[in-house]
Amino acid sequence: MRLDVVTIFPEYLEPLNVSLVGKARARGQLDVHVHDLRQWTHDRHNTVDDTPYGGGPGMVMKTGPWGEALDQTLADGYDAGAHGPVLVVPTPSGRPFTQELAVELSERPWLIFTPARYEGIDRRVMDEYATRMPVYEVSIGDYVLAGGEAAVLVITEAVARLLPGVLGNAESHRDDSFAPGAMANLLEGPVYTKPPEWRGHAIPDVLVSGHHGKIARWRRDEAFRRTAAHRPDLIERCDPAAFDKKDRETLSILGWAPEPGGRFWRRVEGVEE
Ligand SMILES: C[S@@+](CC[C@H](N)C(=O)[O-])C[C@H]1O[C@@H](n2cnc3c(N)ncnc32)[C@H](O)[C@@H]1O
Repeated sequence: MRLDVVTIFPEYLEPLNVSLVGKARARGQLDVHVHDLRQWTHDRHNTVDDTPYGGGPGMVMKTGPWGEALDQTLADGYDAGAHGPVLVVPTPSGRPFTQELAVELSERPWLIFTPARYEGIDRRVMDEYATRMPVYEVSIGDYVLAGGEAAVLVITEAVARLLPGVLGNAESHRDDSFAPGAMANLLEGPVYTKPPEWRGHAIPDVLVSGHHGKIARWRRDEAFRRTAAHRPDLIERCDPAAFDKKDRETLSILGWAPEPGGRFWRRVEGVEE
């Protein structure tokens, strides 16, 4: 997979040399190019921003440097096959970045990121490139960062660990929170390692029982417990048809019940959490 990042802070992307993403680069699984947007400015001060039309506080990133940067990046001649590149624009006003979107992006051969600063990029840049390629405006959460570089690091790491051969154990992301499959829409429960007791805290006995069925059941129950406590919205999105008898019992103990005639579950009034 090829990644291009155009930014006014190339040094902010240094972590892309570290750990999982760094190793993926070293192995040639990820081909990362970080570009300084200011190389496409033509004035003495390397200006990339200007005052907003309509007034208001803050500055807006100018069309000119972004247009030249993206044209030149696209003209680089990278062969992304039939799929072509995708423009990923981090912005708090974008669609939420989810595991589902990470999977979708991991299937694309070429991602071009445009992390902004100030009040963001002049709208016409996204409108222009949307005529040439898919443009994904993506938010990593309901908060506002000073710039999009941290969002690029987040998205890149989530995408890179899904690429074939990047994780040492290909099974590792099978049981992750949000992973598709049997645990879809459930958060992962607690995990433990040696020693079996630490400062008076013992691990759950079932984990050393050697009984795979019981361990799987315990993990699933814990996933329900954690999801109900931290993300009740995810439980509401589950399809009850995907639950077995024990799932329903666990949910009932946690205060959830099938909505009459509907596919969603709701908290039963008066049941303790
Ligand atoms: C100060 S923010 C601009 C916020 C903008 N005025 C708004 O309210 O939508 C500057 C840049 O940081 C990045 N950014 C900030 N919060 C983000 C978020 N939650 N997700 C993705 N990118 C974000 C974007 O690149 C954004 O253009």
